[in-house]
Amino acid sequence: MDVTFDMFIETEVPEDEVIISRTDLRGVITYVNDTFAKISGYSSEELIGRPHNILRHPDMPKSVYKELWDTIKAEKSWSGYVKNMRKDRGYYWVYAEVSGVYKNGELVEYKSIRSPVEKQMRVEMQKVYDKMREEEHEDWRAVMYLPYETGNRLIKEAHKRGVKVEELIGELI
Ligand SMILES: Cc1cc2nc3c(=O)[nH]c(=O)nc-3n(C[C@H](O)[C@H](O)[C@H](O)COP(=O)(O)O)c2cc1C
Repeated sequence: MDVTFDMFIETEVPEDEVIISRTDLRGVITYVNDTFAKISGYSSEELIGRPHNILRHPDMPKSVYKELWDTIKAEKSWSGYVKNMRKDRGYYWVYAEVSGVYKNGELVEYKSIRSPVEKQMRVEMQKVYDKMREEEHEDWRAVMYLPYETGNRLIKEAHKRGVKVEELIGELI
């Protein structure tokens, strides 16, 4: 099996702030609040006008977004756990609620309001989505949580020995 080792930094979503975005009916971003921009690592200018999949994380199963779009196109509201990718390729988890914005009774846009996810639930959802991607035969990788220091020590030790991190792990177990 071809193994690669990467370390990504998780951004904690603050408890007391809401993360809001709106899109047109095709999913192109029309508005983000300051917290959204800060957490995603992009500026509002970089986000507005771009498709919302600019934040798509490869760990998210395709079927989750299919379900999201099927639900909102049927004019119902969707909620679920989302792992997003920041501009610096780090990530953050949110619990998102996506629903329609109506003007004179007509659906004109979509909006999403997000809240933080408990650490234990993030670990659980990562496993759920890893399994879904495996079952859906998508490109698959397992995600392992390591304390930051441990990850750093592994990378340094592998560098010192002139081997890849996955080779070092292979030697150790
Ligand atoms: C209001 C709204 C908010 C969305 N928020 C996100 C988001 O935070 N992250 C994300 O990856 N996709 C989000 N999506 C879904 C994207 O439009 C897209 O379907 C998804 O990123 C998957 O990309 P793909 O359809 O190109 O495969 C949102 C869609 C809507 C309508």
